[in-house]
Amino acid sequence: MLNQKIKFLLGALLLLSLTLFSCSKNEVEQKEETVATKTMRTAVAQMNATTGNQANGTVTFTEVEGGIRVVAHFEGVPEGDHGFHIHENGDCSSGDGKSAGGHFNPAGNPHAGPSAEIRHIGDLGNITANAEGVAEKDFIDAVLSFDAAQSIVGKGVILHAKADDLTSQPTGAAGARISCGSIEVVEISAK
Ligand code: CU
Ligand code: ZN
Repeated sequence: MLNQKIKFLLGALLLLSLTLFSCSKNEVEQKEETVATKTMRTAVAQMNATTGNQANGTVTFTEVEGGIRVVAHFEGVPEGDHGFHIHENGDCSSGDGKSAGGHFNPAGNPHAGPSAEIRHIGDLGNITANAEGVAEKDFIDAVLSFDAAQSIVGKGVILHAKADDLTSQPTGAAGARISCGSIEVVEISAK
């Protein structure tokens, strides 16, 4: 009789400790998730019109699952399609934006569109401006990165006068540079 009581008590204790153990394990998993969201990095390019143009705006780059989310907003852009790229220098000091150099292309690939398997890292295609001169785009690019030799931090962003045809070498025949900005890290923090 006494023996049975002890067995029952031991069984209950075992059950209790198992429950406690699985609860604390869940807590650890939850904490790891929070840490992962907190290390998301964001960078911004303040876009300024080049000499004789009015295209101003911001382009935000945020690390997300599957790549970098790019959110671009421009005003003062002539209606239609405009080539939109990351260039190799975050330098907009020349009035015409040419100080930003060529397309960011550390691998030495040919120019192409954003969905091409082989492309410049900087090949982000086109942005379309409406009749009010507003041009917006929000997309995730799997090629862009904040790390190592592929990092876009410190590079330039250029909006062009004409559309990128996604094939002409080396720049898609997108013409003059109407807006220029430098990609700067703004936060490595919580969301
Ligand atoms: Cu360009
Ligand atoms: Zn290119």
